[in-house]
Amino acid sequence: MIKEKIIYTTFSDWRFNIKKAKESFIWDQAGHRLLDFTSGWNVANLGWNNPEISKAVIAQVRKNTYAPMWTADPVQKKYADFLVKYMPSGLDSIGRATGGMEAIEEAIKLARSATGRKKIVGFVKSYHGQSIHCLVLSYLPEWYAKISNPQTDLVHLPFPNLYCSEKSPQELLSNLETQLEKILRQEDVAAILTESGTITGWGSTDVAPDGFLTLLRKLTQRYGTLLILDEVGSGFSRLGKLFAWQIENVCPDIITLAKGISNGAAPIGAMVTTQQIAVQGASAANLQSTFGWIPPACAAALQTLKIHIREKIWEKAFRDGEYIKLVLKKEFSNNPFVGDVRGRGMEIGIDLVQDGQTQMNNTEMVEKVVSLAYQKGLHLVSDHESVIQLMPPLTIERKVLDKGLEILIECIRKAGKK
Ligand SMILES: Cc1ncc(COP(=O)(O)O)c(C=O)c1O
Repeated sequence: MIKEKIIYTTFSDWRFNIKKAKESFIWDQAGHRLLDFTSGWNVANLGWNNPEISKAVIAQVRKNTYAPMWTADPVQKKYADFLVKYMPSGLDSIGRATGGMEAIEEAIKLARSATGRKKIVGFVKSYHGQSIHCLVLSYLPEWYAKISNPQTDLVHLPFPNLYCSEKSPQELLSNLETQLEKILRQEDVAAILTESGTITGWGSTDVAPDGFLTLLRKLTQRYGTLLILDEVGSGFSRLGKLFAWQIENVCPDIITLAKGISNGAAPIGAMVTTQQIAVQGASAANLQSTFGWIPPACAAALQTLKIHIREKIWEKAFRDGEYIKLVLKKEFSNNPFVGDVRGRGMEIGIDLVQDGQTQMNNTEMVEKVVSLAYQKGLHLVSDHESVIQLMPPLTIERKVLDKGLEILIECIRKAGKK
């Protein structure tokens, strides 16, 4: 759709104009208040227009708004020092970026130039951004046919999804191990690119068995392949830890960050790696970005991270996520249209199915629930297949969360009736 000269596509099809947004609420053009269960897709984790972050941006704008790539502003150094304190030990070198896709492109280029290998392995139906690499890595060939030829250097694997699997978690992991060994044994794979084991980017909220990341780390180390962990959606407390690498305590070679990094106050992304990899690869990888890490964005990111640490936001995210799952599982235990309630931290998926048939998506019902919820004042997003993905601001008050859940439950019940 093109609306007022701006192009909108499937996942971003225009729905309403924002008049204002505050904490866990958004008001549309008509002044209709929406309780937000999206955080703008894992961006406004600390609530919309967090005043402390806005204040930090304004203070920086008064000092200096721009630093060319060959210079540094003090706030950039301050943010780099602070950020690496919360990265795994040894990941202390940062590529500056404007967002998630750019950080991931940097990671792919760096992995290739540091290892001297070209292949990248990724999982189908995950989302890492809109670049050709990112799309081809996560799309099925029929979906990217119009935008790219198949790329032999980009290898797809199915994600070991727990839902509807006839295999046990152990079998899923051992199948993955067999598939991966076959590929990695060739010793021509530069890196595996993955989220932590919970898909945040695609909308499916698919979950892999515990031990997923540990397995990838073991195999990548065995075959000299790098592990790139995409924390663009999982980072900044979303999954109940400050960062998702802490869930299995796995230290990847490269971490990419964006989205919740600045809480939506300014565009910024980061590619964080070891000094050794940076020295080996950065020059050929040509990590340049005109707007990467402009000072107001760094001020926003610095303040955002300070709030996460000060308030231990991940602890509340974990508690509230468990609460949401408990409420929804209890409510829908006998509902034939709810196939699954799953997720980690405050990243929860509700899988809607055809009457009692867990293998069959109920896309029509998903769209109906999203639209009914809007009419009743709840802002939701979905994967446009079978899943409504709940990502409320992590700072949401319990009574607001309860109100949102009440509307959601009512809409799912209503949409399930003929
Ligand atoms: C998991 C994940 N990685 C990467 C990206 C790309 O980030 P950006 O839109 O900032 O390029 C997204 C965006 O939705 C994402 O969800």
